[in-house]
Amino acid sequence: CKAHKVAVLPGDGIGPEIMDAALKVLTAAGRKEGETFEFKHALIGGAAIDATGNPLPEETLDICKASDSVLLAAIGGYKWDTLPAAQRPERGLLGLRAGLNAFANLRPAIVPRQLADSSPLKKEIVEGVDILIVRELVGGIYFGQPRGFGTNEKGDRIGFNTDVYSEPEVERIARVAFEAAQKRQKRLCSVEKSNVLEVSQLWKEVVIRVAKDYPDVELSHMYIDNAAMQLLRNPKYFDVVVTGNIFGDILSDEASMLAGSLGMLPSASISGSGPGIFEPVHGSAPDIAGQDLANPMAMVMSAAMMCRYDLKIPKVADRLEAAVDQALDQGLRTKDLWKEGTTLVKCSELGNKLVELV
Ligand code: NAD
Ligand code: IPM
Ligand code: MN
Repeated sequence: CKAHKVAVLPGDGIGPEIMDAALKVLTAAGRKEGETFEFKHALIGGAAIDATGNPLPEETLDICKASDSVLLAAIGGYKWDTLPAAQRPERGLLGLRAGLNAFANLRPAIVPRQLADSSPLKKEIVEGVDILIVRELVGGIYFGQPRGFGTNEKGDRIGFNTDVYSEPEVERIARVAFEAAQKRQKRLCSVEKSNVLEVSQLWKEVVIRVAKDYPDVELSHMYIDNAAMQLLRNPKYFDVVVTGNIFGDILSDEASMLAGSLGMLPSASISGSGPGIFEPVHGSAPDIAGQDLANPMAMVMSAAMMCRYDLKIPKVADRLEAAVDQALDQGLRTKDLWKEGTTLVKCSELGNKLVELV
């Protein structure tokens, strides 16, 4: 059977370390199911800036478009932090998301039973949490025009961005969220700031209108500030959350602490046609880069989401997730999750262990 074409974008910081581990595990899991992969490596972020001066070289976008799927680790780092916004590594990532129209960012925040006591929150609060954050990814304040720097009437220097959504943009992400809710607990919470922002008023109106097509889904609305609080007070309230680009960014990092580490959260960014982007929620972790300390589990589970959503090889996805589950069962923990009574492992060691377990 034909090899699955995967564009591999390791990026910066811990990116190459977790990508190394994930590719090994993915290859091993594929072998067990008779599936093979053709990995095409490409540059993005700081690594691409250093090599070409551009955080998203044309060649990289072409390779991604010609692939079945894109596996991305993380971009960014201290070295590029002083570049102007338009030339930063982050622009490469945003350009890739926009270039592939990957508007629906699915960020599951699940607390594995083995980690129920790894959260800074009480075990009773986080035990059994299973949330899906559906984050709009190619609109909102990240992309709105006008943006830039200027001068106000008083002559002070200003920076500005525009939070903007069109009705079709809200409608398409709402449909993704309602459809996801139908396959889960059938509860959808739309998170916005409609008590203050016009962009959120429009968001809410459109979500309410779209809800008529999904009468089996119970819809609720929450302001972002309250949602940030409820996520800690009673995370089990949430089934599917749908929200805009920046609120989804913040809520998903917050949600990672239910499981105790940002290194546990995978994501899928999909358009519904063409290749999706599969990447951990976390960044390049420059504070621990190059030390073999990173947790590769979010990366491995992102590869699992790729197998399920894009490559349609659910058995390989099952193997990857089962291997992570077993490693947790065996008490193997990278530094982010290590505590008394568990076994401290390096990123590469955990990768090798997962290869044995798939
Ligand atoms: P970060 O997510 O990189 O790190 C935040 C904290 O979590 C750090 O202490 C880090 O060590 C820890 N952490 C993150 N992932 C981990 C893992 N897998 N295992 C163990 N610990 C982990 O966020 P930041 O420090 O705010 O940003 C660093 C850089 O990453 C910035 O340049 C930022 O723009 C970029 N970033 C990129 C992405 C992406 O590529 N998708 C996402 C977020 C941030
Ligand atoms: C994420 C990251 C990115 C975002 C940055 C690096 C552009 O924080 O994937 O969550 O804000 O979307
Ligand atoms: Mn983020």
